[in-house]
Amino acid sequence: MTAKSPRKPISLTRFLIEEQRDKGHINSDLRLLIEVVARACKRIAISVGRGALGGVLGSAGTENVQGEVQKKLDVLSNEILLEANEWGGHLAALASEEMDDPHPIPHRYPKGEYLLVFDPLDGSSNIDVNISVGTIFSVLRCPAGVKDPDEKAFLQAGVKQVAAGYAVYGSSTMLVLTLGDGVHAFTLDREIGSFVLTGSDLTIPEDTREFAINMSNLRHWQAPMRRYIDELLAGKTGPRGADFNMRWVASMVADVHRIITRGGIFIYPIDAKIADKGGKLRLMYEANPMAMIVEQAGGMATDGHGRILEIVPKSLHQRVPVFLGSKNEIDRVTRYHREAKV
Ligand code: AHG
Ligand code: MN
Ligand code: MN
Repeated sequence: MTAKSPRKPISLTRFLIEEQRDKGHINSDLRLLIEVVARACKRIAISVGRGALGGVLGSAGTENVQGEVQKKLDVLSNEILLEANEWGGHLAALASEEMDDPHPIPHRYPKGEYLLVFDPLDGSSNIDVNISVGTIFSVLRCPAGVKDPDEKAFLQAGVKQVAAGYAVYGSSTMLVLTLGDGVHAFTLDREIGSFVLTGSDLTIPEDTREFAINMSNLRHWQAPMRRYIDELLAGKTGPRGADFNMRWVASMVADVHRIITRGGIFIYPIDAKIADKGGKLRLMYEANPMAMIVEQAGGMATDGHGRILEIVPKSLHQRVPVFLGSKNEIDRVTRYHREAKV
């Protein structure tokens, strides 16, 4: 009797080649794009992992277009993603949280058909305290006939994304990816230096008893938001008849990763403090890619009223309220907002 040989690990490279060759889901440019982003994320993971030894903690002493103080790692991660993606010929332009305007592909390199938008380092407030941070990215097509894409070329609804993903730099580094056909998770094998498929077709359960929200903003929320959370907090003897648990990492990537792994909901609603900005999280490089991933995993993502993915952006750094995760809870809290007509 011959022993059955264990299944060989599937690397990200092999996964992408099979998506292209066998399923025809992607072309070679998109495959290259994902590989290049993954490679950049490995470099960011190395810097994050070196922490104080790498001299990368603390503030860069500069501000981004949104008036936020940039951390050294925000700037470094942005540079890593730019450098990695400029020369491959797969992109028409890039845009990021850390740059006021889109970054053109330098003339010395060929241009491709895709646009890449990213949050190079998500959860910046957690860098210096050794808590998980991440990178979020979204891939769009450059509109036909546009040679030098400006901001307008990027202003496409999330339904137009051809791929989205995030890397989470936690106790292990993982890459979670959708190409519009389910959500797949890869774990970085640090010895080999390659991402290995460790979860296919991830799904978010429809029901959950776990929520993520920054409760310190409660007094600034609108009535439907308070109603929803009050009901959860009332527990077994309240209208929901069940106890709910709470988590808040303050790195969207880490909070969404928990939801992708075991279900739950993540909410960053509008509140009186940020009403003039339209929300806290950014539509194009936080809400949209996460909404695509969550929907692809069977969850739901709204701005409290409608589908996030259907919002047509008005500007690159536009902010939106975000409600995402297990379907039945997101459906309920969205209904409360619609009924209240706020
Ligand atoms: P970034 O570090 O890219 O600016 O994003 C931070 C975001 C998000 O990751 C997180 O969910 C949220 O800000 C936390 O906000 P609070 O500090 O208001 O809780
Ligand atoms: Mn972020
Ligand atoms: Mn960021």
